[in-house]
Amino acid sequence: MAEIEYRNLGRSGLVVSTIGLGCNNFGRAKTATETQAGTDAVVHAAIDAGVTLFDTADIYGSERGLSESLMGHALKGRRGEIVLATKFGMDMAGTNGPDWGARGSRRYIRLAVEASLRRLRTDWIDLYQLHQPDPMTPIDETLAALDELIAEGKVRYIGHSNLAGWQIADAEYRATLGAHPKFISAQNEYSLLRRGVEAEVLPAVNAYGLGFLPFFPLYNGLFTGKFNRQGGPADSRIMALRPHVLDDVDWDVMERYEAFCAERDISMLAATFGWLLAQPGLTSVIAGVTKPEQIVQNADVASSWTPSPDEVAEISTLFA
Ligand SMILES: NC(=O)c1ccc[n+]([C@@H]2O[C@H](COP(=O)([O-])OP(=O)(O)OC[C@H]3O[C@@H](n4cnc5c(N)ncnc54)[C@H](OP(=O)(O)O)[C@@H]3O)[C@@H](O)[C@H]2O)c1
Repeated sequence: MAEIEYRNLGRSGLVVSTIGLGCNNFGRAKTATETQAGTDAVVHAAIDAGVTLFDTADIYGSERGLSESLMGHALKGRRGEIVLATKFGMDMAGTNGPDWGARGSRRYIRLAVEASLRRLRTDWIDLYQLHQPDPMTPIDETLAALDELIAEGKVRYIGHSNLAGWQIADAEYRATLGAHPKFISAQNEYSLLRRGVEAEVLPAVNAYGLGFLPFFPLYNGLFTGKFNRQGGPADSRIMALRPHVLDDVDWDVMERYEAFCAERDISMLAATFGWLLAQPGLTSVIAGVTKPEQIVQNADVASSWTPSPDEVAEISTLFA
């Protein structure tokens, strides 16, 4: 069994496992983690395997807040063993009262954080992330409101998600001007089939020393290696909920990737984690799972194969 690795998240003292756990499957209809028992099984298996970074959001779950509520129960007695990350700023459809679209405002952040703390049954959030840019609120106000939460001990570190490169630079500049704590992490979509962040986001992330957390790192599970031209397991997210994902795939390229893995006697999962973790600034792969054995397997393979620079380039070129 490969040893799990830990890295600092950006230029901060927050240390997290390089294999994290994406928690948007908790409370998702038609999955084994739809229920409390299913969520408990995954959460405990993850902690026992040495996974520390758990990434959720107030909006996750078949009803808003459900992922956080299930996690609040699952973490009973084990809260101190993990780094808990959640997010605010997507449309909660009135769950936090009227917001008029200004979900980065001081007024809204106060409501959102109290609701998340209540659902998560905790006194503090380790990493509180702005889920998407708020075009109505100046980022200075968002930073000042988050600064207050850090001072009060409700939040330890702050991060953002879905910001463009220029917005990352602007937030850094505004935090410096206002002497506010800085965002330490960026979370954007990144996988072998979605490489858009390489143009502007990753250069900004690296210039400012942020930690990068890729979402959909396995492209909805495609890069687990359990799919082929004919399809895959009937109970998988792709087959049950998103069959269109398979239509995007160039199967000739996927088969060349399979051959690359076979030549090295490694699984596609190991190769994909290896490629992701070799990207500068990328701190932790927050893949989601629906079954405890999946997180155990991910923790096991995450650091099992370290590609050479030539191998990283070969995979990148394959999916260019
Ligand atoms: N910031 C944002 O806007 C944003 C947006 C989306 C997601 N996220 C975050 O990113 C996280 C990761 O995204 P994701 O979970 O949606 O996608 P993903 O990591 O690309 O794919 C996860 C899926 O892969 C399958 N899987 C994982 N490990 C496996 C294994 N060892 N064997 C077999 N199958 C395995 C599971 O699917 P099945 O068992 O169902 O096949 C799982 O649901 C989320 O949980 C969330 O925290 C953030």
